[in-house]
Amino acid sequence: MKKILVIHYSQTGQLTDIVDSVTAPFKNNETVSIIYENIKPKPAFPFPWSATRFCDVFPESVEGIPCEIEPVQFDPDGDYDLVILAYQVWFLSPSLPITAFLNSPEAKVMNGRPVLTIIGCRNMWLLAHETVKQKIIRSGGRLFGNIVLGDRTNNLLGVLTIAVWMLSGKKKILFGLLPDAGISGRDIQDASRFGAILMESLNNNDPGPVQETLNRHGAVTVVPQYILFEKRIHKIFKIWSKFILRKGKRGNPARRFRVRLFLAYLLAAICVIAPVSSVLSILAVKLKKGEIQKAIDYFSKNIV
Ligand SMILES: Cc1cc2nc3c(=O)[nH]c(=O)nc-3n(C[C@H](O)[C@H](O)[C@H](O)COP(=O)(O)O)c2cc1C
Repeated sequence: MKKILVIHYSQTGQLTDIVDSVTAPFKNNETVSIIYENIKPKPAFPFPWSATRFCDVFPESVEGIPCEIEPVQFDPDGDYDLVILAYQVWFLSPSLPITAFLNSPEAKVMNGRPVLTIIGCRNMWLLAHETVKQKIIRSGGRLFGNIVLGDRTNNLLGVLTIAVWMLSGKKKILFGLLPDAGISGRDIQDASRFGAILMESLNNNDPGPVQETLNRHGAVTVVPQYILFEKRIHKIFKIWSKFILRKGKRGNPARRFRVRLFLAYLLAAICVIAPVSSVLSILAVKLKKGEIQKAIDYFSKNIV
């Protein structure tokens, strides 16, 4: 009997749907026992968000300052053959509930075990995953594989549709004239193919990394421009997060003005800086071909 622990958090249910799809081949399988642990922030984050509350989680996300979470239900000393950690990205960083879990004593459950990560995000996950990988390794976990599902629409259109979704709760905008926000239902459904690969690997008693096999089935796609984008944006995010944190912790009214300034910056960045940056990045990718190819290899292999 193989024992699998699935740790995840989802605000809208999107990541829960992905986890359900990937783990579908394990269900009704008598040789597998599967335990789902839903990480619960205390208090829950609001959905839909107000623009201010959305930006108020920014500094803590970037600086890796965890939120409070409810006690977990699983046995951290249990004997698991595989730990699956499913997470989403907030401001190029792991979301606050996942940071909270990774920083908690219960993260020791990964010690000595293969850990498969599943990311469900818009499209920028590279730097967040660097942080998550480091924390898994620090807890003694072994990187087993990574599966990334993202929004396939054009970057700028994707920003618009996800912003409307996050701030209104509506995935369909302009009567369906624009693509629905988030990851497509088809991609979520098709993610069960990864579960079949994992099942085979577990049945073979093969605890070695399955990244190459997963990648042959489209588990990880690295968009060259985003490598440059993320590095650039992250540097600016670090300046903003420190600037806001100087006025206090999350929810502190003293920092509200700075949070709103950041919101104004974000809007300007999306409307003005992002389109220019997109063009420059296409050029930069052509000029730095060798360097970019190395980075693509690194990020898609899920190594540290
Ligand atoms: C506060 C916040 C910041 C986000 N920042 C990013 C980001 O930097 N990169 C990205 O690809 N997606 C980002 N997203 C989208 C999430 O990764 C995720 O796709 C979305 O919130 C749905 O996830 P759910 O399963 O928790 O509902 C952000 C979402 C939120 C709420």
